[in-house]
Amino acid sequence: MYPSISIIGAGNVGHHLTLKLHQQGYNIHQVFSRKLPKAQALAKQVNTEACNHVEEINREADIYIVAIKDDGIASMAEQLSFLNQDHKIVAHTSGATPMTVFDGHFENFGIFYPLQTFSIQKEVNFEQLPFCIDGSNTQTKATLTQLAQSICPNVYDISDQQRNVLHVTAVMVNNFTNHLFAVAQQICKEQQVPFEILHPLIQETTEKIKHTSPKAAQTGPAIRGDQQTIERHLNFLNAYPNYQKIYKMLSQSIQDLHKNL
Ligand SMILES: NC(=O)c1ccc[n+]([C@@H]2O[C@H](COP(=O)([O-])OP(=O)(O)OC[C@H]3O[C@@H](n4cnc5c(N)ncnc54)[C@H](OP(=O)(O)O)[C@@H]3O)[C@@H](O)[C@H]2O)c1
Repeated sequence: MYPSISIIGAGNVGHHLTLKLHQQGYNIHQVFSRKLPKAQALAKQVNTEACNHVEEINREADIYIVAIKDDGIASMAEQLSFLNQDHKIVAHTSGATPMTVFDGHFENFGIFYPLQTFSIQKEVNFEQLPFCIDGSNTQTKATLTQLAQSICPNVYDISDQQRNVLHVTAVMVNNFTNHLFAVAQQICKEQQVPFEILHPLIQETTEKIKHTSPKAAQTGPAIRGDQQTIERHLNFLNAYPNYQKIYKMLSQSIQDLHKNL
């Protein structure tokens, strides 16, 4: 029989996991969010109960998935420690938070970390995302692995240390590149140039590294050593001093990487 699952947190990750697990046939037992309307909106979609006080989270589910802000996990673990009486499994979805955050609160705990960028408004393709799993014991790890495998094909057994590496690098490849897209969009908007003209370049950049290493795929003035072009760009960026700093730092980093490797 499928385990029943309670979801703690109705943000980006909580939202998508709730819908996917429900769609896969799991019973979502409760949805918790500190803001009741948020919990209710999500719970309604999967015909379950919503709650907004931790004391209302009951002991009837088999697995509790904590999908809240990283900084809130330790305190949530403390508040949920009553679940240990029934040996429940408690797992969090954070890439950056060690599994040891649950030490001393539960006997059966683990990690249920989907390595993808989630936004409520954007559908997620679970077929393509990797799931990183860990567990405090063999049985817990096996249960969480089975749960992940039932919603996506790429499930990895990943230690705290490995997850930390993945999270730092995920911030680089997603958060930082996305920030650069946002910066580029702002500059284009202010200079009245359509940002959409850059879309095919963004697409090709990510496509190319599936076949060529990013280092080999590097192009641009920094790797060519086109100093006059760099100077022209820096002059243009005088109007954007913060972005000028980023440009200088990244150009230097490109040159250093190619010198050192
Ligand atoms: N988004 C991603 O791309 C992504 C991908 C993989 C893993 N993760 C991880 O998944 C977790 C959730 O991320 P998210 O993107 O879903 O975040 P989010 O959309 O910002 O949602 C976080 C939720 O945490 C709740 N929250 C914040 N502080 C809390 C506290 N002290 N106690 C209880 N609830 C609290 C908020 O609830 P209220 O509405 O009640 O304020 C909010 O619903 C994080 O650990 C994150 O690292 C995120």
